[in-house]
Amino acid sequence: MLLDTYGRVATDLRVSLTDRCNLRCTYCMPEEGLQWLGKSDLLSDDEIVRLIRIAVTRLGITEVRFTGGEPLLRPGLVGIVERCAALEPRPKMSLTTNGIGLRRTAQALKAAGLDRVNVSLDTLRPEVFKTLTRRDRHKDVIEGMAAAREAGLTPVKVNAVLMPGLNDDEAPDLLAWAVENEYELRFIEQMPLDAQHGWKRDGMITAGDILESLRTRFTLTEEGAVERGSAPAERWLVDGGPATVGVIASVTRPFCGACDRTRLTADGQVRTCLFATEESDLRAALRSGAPDEEIARLWKVAMWGKKAGSGLDDPSFLQPDRPMSAIGG
Ligand code: GTP
Ligand code: 5AD
Ligand code: SF4
Repeated sequence: MLLDTYGRVATDLRVSLTDRCNLRCTYCMPEEGLQWLGKSDLLSDDEIVRLIRIAVTRLGITEVRFTGGEPLLRPGLVGIVERCAALEPRPKMSLTTNGIGLRRTAQALKAAGLDRVNVSLDTLRPEVFKTLTRRDRHKDVIEGMAAAREAGLTPVKVNAVLMPGLNDDEAPDLLAWAVENEYELRFIEQMPLDAQHGWKRDGMITAGDILESLRTRFTLTEEGAVERGSAPAERWLVDGGPATVGVIASVTRPFCGACDRTRLTADGQVRTCLFATEESDLRAALRSGAPDEEIARLWKVAMWGKKAGSGLDDPSFLQPDRPMSAIGG
C-alpha cells in the first residue's frame, strides 16, 4: 500500500510516457519547445510495464492513467496498454491526450484494453485554437474526440483551460457543444506549471468566474450530482441533468486532502505531487538490477514523504523545476 503520513493512500498512478508534444499551448510551453529528454533517459516500454506491474501487484494501484507531454507520440503506447491489460489484477486504464492522432488510434487503443480518454480542448474557434496552441490542428482534435466516442472510450471527458482575453468568453458555448456531443466537460483553473513561469494569480480565471459565466445560460445544481470521491473535478448537473459539468479548482479550492495519486515521470522518477520539489529515482534502481521488492520499497518510502498539499497558498511557494509537460499533468 502506498500510504503517506497524513493517512492518504495512493491507488491512482499517472504515468508520463514522453515529455514531447506536438502542440505549444501558451500556458504550458514556449514556441520553441523545451529541452526534451534523450532516448536513453526515457524508460523503455519494458521498464514502464515492469513498474506498472509492481504498482498493481504489490502496491495497491487500481487505476493507471497515461499522460505526457502527448502520450500518443509514444510509439509503443498500444503495446504498453495491451501488456497492462493482461496484469492480474487488471488496472482500470485511461489516457489524457490533446487528441491529435486519436482518429487513427482510438480503435486499436480500445482493442488493447484502454477504458476511456480525456481530451484537452480550450476553444471551439479554430483561429483561437491556433493562437492558444500555436498550431493549426483544431479539426484533428475534434475528429479525434469523435473517434474516441465511436470506439467506446467513454465517457470522453474534455478538459478546457480558460485564458483571459483569449477564450474566457467561451464557457457557455463549450458547454452547449459538449452536452450536444455527449462529452463530459471540465474547466481547469490555470496552475503555475508553465515552463516560462508566466502564471499570475491576479490574472487567472477562477472557478467562481467560470460558474458565473455558465449560469448566464444554464441552471447548475449540486443536488444529485455524482459523488466526487477523490476526483479533482467538482461537478454540477446541467439544466437538471443528466449532463454534468466539472470544475477543477486546484488553485482556489484545492483538493489535496483527498489526493489518491502517485506519479511516474517519463524518465522514471516518482513524484508524490504535481507540485513536489523532490523526486525518487526508480530508473536508477531498475537499471542497477534491483529486484521488485526493493523497487516497491523505494516507492513506499517516496510516498511516505508526500507533503500535505500543493503549498500554493504558502508565501514561500516555489514553482517546481519541471514544467507540467515533463511531470505528466
Ligand atoms: P478523471 O476525472 O478520473 O478522468 O481524471 P483527472 O481529471 O484527474 O485527469 P486529467 O488527466 O484529465 O486531469 C485534468 C486536470 O486535473 C489536469 O489539469 C491535471 O493537471 C489536474 N490534476 C490531475 N491530478 C491532479 C492532482 O493531483 N492535483 C492537482 N492540483 N491537479 C491535478
Ligand atoms: N494549468 C492547468 N492545466 C493545465 N494543463 C496544462 N497546463 C496547465 C496549467 N498550467 C492541462 C491541459 C490538459 C491537462 C492534462 O492539463 O490542458 O487538459
Ligand atoms: Fe502539449 Fe498538453 Fe502542453 Fe498543450 S498543455 S503543449 S497539449 S503537453
